[in-house]
Amino acid sequence: MKIAVLTSGGDAPGMNAAIRAVVRTGIAFGHEIFGVLDGYRGLLEDNFIPLTSKDVSGMLSAGGTMLGTARVTEFKEVPVQMVAIDNLTNRGIDALIVIGGDGSYRGALALHELGFQTIGIPGTIDNDVYGTDFTIGFHTALNTIVDAIDKLRDTSSSHRRCSIIEVMGRTSGDLALYAGICGGAEFIITPENPINKDKLISTLKKHNDEGRRHAIIVVTEQQFDVHKLAAEISIKSGFSSRATVLGYIQRGGRPVAEDRILASRMGSYAVEAIMQGVSGECIGIKNDKLVTSPLADIVNHPKERGELYDLVQKIR
Ligand code: F6P
Repeated sequence: MKIAVLTSGGDAPGMNAAIRAVVRTGIAFGHEIFGVLDGYRGLLEDNFIPLTSKDVSGMLSAGGTMLGTARVTEFKEVPVQMVAIDNLTNRGIDALIVIGGDGSYRGALALHELGFQTIGIPGTIDNDVYGTDFTIGFHTALNTIVDAIDKLRDTSSSHRRCSIIEVMGRTSGDLALYAGICGGAEFIITPENPINKDKLISTLKKHNDEGRRHAIIVVTEQQFDVHKLAAEISIKSGFSSRATVLGYIQRGGRPVAEDRILASRMGSYAVEAIMQGVSGECIGIKNDKLVTSPLADIVNHPKERGELYDLVQKIR
């Protein structure tokens, strides 16, 4: 078979490890593997490269994505999707593996519905994909955030400050939740657990009166202006407060061990699924077992929330 692979949406550490596993597993089974450059853009511009085992050497530990990525909004339109199918079929490609998040899966589902064999692998730092406990890149971003919280606590304690740390995640609070637990945050504010400002300020005031030297608040992005919240805390709680927006640093860096293993397992499994004729499905990990679920279900479900959302109420 000829199998193509692309990465799409926000890059995530471990995408390269997944590409490597696709290439090496595919070649081991006697297939030809092609990389599509810059996500769906490369499908539209007929930008493919053959990938050999040597081409992915050294990629296991490399951050970013060696194939490039893009967000291609026009890929929602059927005539645009048809261009992609033409380019794939003209090259004799039999199947496509899409590594990305929710938005990327919509494109993969569309190609499957147009009759092209397509499989998804969840690659996004947000961990917001239904049908999998973890997405590739989540653990690396989490470690980056925890490292930042530890550093911010040092300076907050020294100055008796309240530090607000805004993290990525879009509509998913998993990065904030997991990082907040690992970093011992006093408050974790996520889309699933939104701000209660009166309670926040009164608790901070109490902590300040008790003589505590620091307070840490971890917030999922896109909810409110963290700098304004810091200003309000400074006026009302007794703590002086500063906000830090971690931004794109969370997407970079060498993948941690969990992401290298997850990406290797999922990349290899995706090739085996393709060989079995599976299409319109995506790979997931559930209770440490690899599974596939229909893309049509995944894109229509918000991710189920785990027990950590309850844990945080008890141990903060
Ligand atoms: O989906 C990954 C992510 O990093 C989100 O956490 C964030 O909201 C978004 O991508 C940023 O996207 P862009 O790279 O298009 O600015």
